[in-house]
Amino acid sequence: MSLLSRNINKIKPSPTVAMLTRAKEMKAQGIDVLSLSVGEPDFDTPENIKEAARKAIREGKTKYTPVDGITELKKAIINKYANRIKADEDNVIISSGAKQSLYNCFISTLEEDDEVIIPIPYWVSYPDMVKLAGGKPVYINCPEEQNFKLTPDSLESAISERSKLLILNTPNNPTGAKYSREELKSLATIISKYPQLNVIADDIYESIIFDNDCCSLIDIAPELKNQICIVNGVSKAYAMTGWRIGYAIGGKELVKAMKKVQSQSTSNPCSISQYASIEALSGNQDFIAKTTEIYKKRRDLSCGLLNNIKGISCAIPDGTFYTFPNCQSFINKKTPDGTIIKNSYDFCEFLIEKARVLLVPGSAFGIDGYFRFSFATSEENIKEGIKRIAEACDLLAE
Ligand SMILES: Cc1ncc(COP(=O)(O)O)c(C=O)c1O
Repeated sequence: MSLLSRNINKIKPSPTVAMLTRAKEMKAQGIDVLSLSVGEPDFDTPENIKEAARKAIREGKTKYTPVDGITELKKAIINKYANRIKADEDNVIISSGAKQSLYNCFISTLEEDDEVIIPIPYWVSYPDMVKLAGGKPVYINCPEEQNFKLTPDSLESAISERSKLLILNTPNNPTGAKYSREELKSLATIISKYPQLNVIADDIYESIIFDNDCCSLIDIAPELKNQICIVNGVSKAYAMTGWRIGYAIGGKELVKAMKKVQSQSTSNPCSISQYASIEALSGNQDFIAKTTEIYKKRRDLSCGLLNNIKGISCAIPDGTFYTFPNCQSFINKKTPDGTIIKNSYDFCEFLIEKARVLLVPGSAFGIDGYFRFSFATSEENIKEGIKRIAEACDLLAE
């Protein structure tokens, strides 16, 4: 009898582990490897939020809280969404990161072979989380010609009797693509035809957008609220990735089930982080506007410089701190030591060795021929990193 479960054998370790290990080894040898792969803001958490945490500690708010989070934080979340969705405390659960909210949701809803529609490119964790929960990912390719987005036809053709969930992540990790109001409306028309299909709206990057327009399905199709579970958190918006606070807003039946899962796994998220998150959501919001402006400048810098490299083309993202350049022209090219670059993984490995730059290959997100470039770093690092990439690309034989 195997010690390990069948479910654990269905999932794979992160596809980028080997590359990260190589980058670490190089760093340990004193080689300066520049990371342009990070999935978190490079800013510090704002001081007012840190002070709220210190205050919580001073006041002894260091004990268990209700499993699904403290009332004051739920109220702050309900208030944030007041113009968009009418929710009570029973519609909200606070978790240790948006990631736990997503996982709770999959565990609560999926049975063997229930289908979860996942557009490609996808955030790396969706497929494995779905498989761990016993569900079956059904992928929809969203090629660059479609700006990496679902179309109503591609969505409808993937829906079957077993479709239970659709994951809609906008703006998207890894592409930074954001659905327009019209695009969301046309998807909502399809979704409304299939009441058994529930949408997980992963809105974790909703505050990092460059056109000041809204982007969540709930804003466009409030009439679908019974089919939508919103997942969001403070990690990306307030540079709080380490504090581990995310949340979900959904139907009461679903949220109750998610609470049950959380009660038997981790219990409440960190009490101190919850108090800090009240300040994040209810305090001064200048940090978001200020950092979005900085990301926008970095986006323009990154995309401009990347597009100057012969062989690379880079779509301009509408949000997030990622861009997803196309490197297909380097596939089948020969490196100076005679190795053939077979895919984006090989291309990124080559860039670690030759450019000392760490990126994430598109294959980690389900699509080859691209890489994820994170501009959550200084302009100086962006310029230096892209200069190194350009020099290494020049080495690839015609
Ligand atoms: C698309 C997406 N969803 C969810 C998460 C998880 O965020 P959290 O830090 O709140 O768990 C991430 C983090 O990288 C993400 O990129």
